[in-house]
Amino acid sequence: MNGRDIKEICIGNWKAEALFTANRMRIFDYLDSGLKSAEDIAGKLDVDAGFLKRLLNVLVSLGLLCKEDDHFRNSEIADTFLVKGKETYMGDLVAHFDSMKGKWARLEECIKKGESLISDIPEDQRAGKLKDFMLAMRDNSTLSIPTILNVLDLSECENLLDLACGPGSYSVAFAGRYETLKITLFDIPEVIEIAKQSFDDGLRKRIGFIGGDITKDELGDSLYDVVFVSNLIHMYDPWVIRKIFKKVARALRRDGRIIIHEFILNKEKILPLYGVLFNLNMMLGTVGGDSYSFDEIEGWLIESGFNKISKIDLQGLSSALVVGRLKTI
Ligand SMILES: C[S@@+](CC[C@H](N)C(=O)[O-])C[C@H]1O[C@@H](n2cnc3c(N)ncnc32)[C@H](O)[C@@H]1O
Repeated sequence: MNGRDIKEICIGNWKAEALFTANRMRIFDYLDSGLKSAEDIAGKLDVDAGFLKRLLNVLVSLGLLCKEDDHFRNSEIADTFLVKGKETYMGDLVAHFDSMKGKWARLEECIKKGESLISDIPEDQRAGKLKDFMLAMRDNSTLSIPTILNVLDLSECENLLDLACGPGSYSVAFAGRYETLKITLFDIPEVIEIAKQSFDDGLRKRIGFIGGDITKDELGDSLYDVVFVSNLIHMYDPWVIRKIFKKVARALRRDGRIIIHEFILNKEKILPLYGVLFNLNMMLGTVGGDSYSFDEIEGWLIESGFNKISKIDLQGLSSALVVGRLKTI
């Protein structure tokens, strides 16, 4: 590493800001119809053409647009991920990161106080934020679903619980791949109402929904072969996680599996970078949330009655799976 790398870190937020702005201005949607000049786009958006052109040039430099004869079009990557309506669209995830900027600007304050900023979000704004958050989670899962389907074999599984299902994207994918699999989705009631909208009538016959609070409610006894827990435990402290794992153990049938999908840090908690940064994000926005190492998760699973615990890396993704089997005596 040298001085240039330090400068590169410093301009990280400039790059992000260029993308956030283009995403908010819906530039990629507008360019979906083909080559346009800065003047065309400025006219459509009612903004200054000269200033807009500077942003468009940056987007070219970032690889998000292509420039031909002073006209601009989406690059392949923007065409795939940033145009609303495309199956692989992730603009809602980009908007989610955009919405977190304010929190990150208060990192120093948070560290000084030793307190998260969660109480600063007014109650009346939380419902709107929840819908946006679910859209972002849907985009996020689009990136990992193909890899997870590839590495996971659920062919022996009859009943799966998707714990903290969010918008239900993983369950939609599992139900599509395994034609007889029955799935129950569990999340807080407001999120369950959103998740229900992800399933068409054909899939609904095999799908059940439970609205509840996993920190307070039980999951039942010996009901499932697999409990899939994606991106939940980083929201909680170890004490709550142990309680959740014990509930999962009770809800599993003999020889059942827990499959955890998470950012898994190394022993020293310094890699991978995305997971370590996410750690700060959880510190800013949750009470007790954190990113954990495999050893930590393994320890809590053993305590909760699991064995044969293994980690499955998801090639190219910043997250991994941790799988444990219910110990049978
Ligand atoms: C980061 S999202 C992950 C959603 C989904 N599993 C995924 O990976 O896309 C975390 C989910 O956990 C749910 N959750 C958090 N705390 C919960 C609780 N106490 N009871 C039930 N669900 C909870 C949230 O509502 C949210 O849908």
